[in-house]
Amino acid sequence: MPYPEIRPRRLRRTPALRRLVSETRLDPAELVVPMFVKEGLTEPRAIASLPGVLQHSRDSLRKAAVEAVQAGIGGIMLFGVPAERDPAGSGGIDPDGILNVAIRDVVSEVGDATVVMSDLCLDEFTSHGHCGLLTPDGEVDNDATLGAYAEMAVAQAEAGVHVVGPSGMMDGQVGVVRRALDAAGHQDVAVLAYAVKYASAFFGPFRDAVESALEGDRRAYQQDPANLRESLREVALDVAEGADMVMVKPALPYLDVVSAVRDAVDVPVAAYQVSGEYAMVEAAAANGWIDRERVMLETLTSIRRAGAQIILTYWAVEAARLLRERY
Ligand code: PBG
Repeated sequence: MPYPEIRPRRLRRTPALRRLVSETRLDPAELVVPMFVKEGLTEPRAIASLPGVLQHSRDSLRKAAVEAVQAGIGGIMLFGVPAERDPAGSGGIDPDGILNVAIRDVVSEVGDATVVMSDLCLDEFTSHGHCGLLTPDGEVDNDATLGAYAEMAVAQAEAGVHVVGPSGMMDGQVGVVRRALDAAGHQDVAVLAYAVKYASAFFGPFRDAVESALEGDRRAYQQDPANLRESLREVALDVAEGADMVMVKPALPYLDVVSAVRDAVDVPVAAYQVSGEYAMVEAAAANGWIDRERVMLETLTSIRRAGAQIILTYWAVEAARLLRERY
């Protein structure tokens, strides 16, 4: 050993020392739980590929929202599953559509005690499952879709949502949504832009959760997993168009992107630990191959360490409870 003896292990000796020097701490206030609500359900329903996650009825959603608030989580991201779909995704705009109704339900239940957010995308509402309107030859029509997003944003704002989350990866969507909200008097509704969203196979279980009608893929609008610089371009555009917060999605396979985005912008950065990331851990844990709780917290810590200040995760409520027990 050279002198003086530099021994990093000194600071790892006891739990108290490790706690003292910990560089990254998870806080329930920074966790956001995605929740699904399905039109017409009277009882919540399990989702086979997302063990522990439910398709809620309107009633069970209200209760779950209250429990999430009691656990101290920072927000709820709502997704609606309509009973019927059409090519225009009109259920997303209809004030009586399931997502808009669910926003009203949750806001009336929890008020401002947490941040209520909504997915702003057409894919749950279209019969073809794409995130936008289609041209006659079946391509996603960017600019026609923007008009629908604008209407959807206003409908969600009128339902009382605090934050809208445009997730369809149409060019110009943030600016159009911001202008539409402002024109309708909703200057206070914030935009969490899914600025960076890869055409990822990790979304698989989510498509079960929303009973997606999609055939084919979204590679003509979501990003190529090979690209990092492109993400910085997406983020810069969204911030210029008025995004209040930006999100990277998925999370764990893209920690380099989270870190680069954190360095590039001064708005809060969120990361979405998506359905496939969750399902992989749950499946391995169900087989007894890994320690579920430790892996859960390790993945969340890694996403936090990479630079995401806000994490969307299906474990949010459970993780929040675990964190409260520990500290
Ligand atoms: C689009 C949307 C998707 C997810 C969130 N918003 C699906 C997609 O782009 O195909 C995926 C979330 C997850 O996998 O957990 N409305």
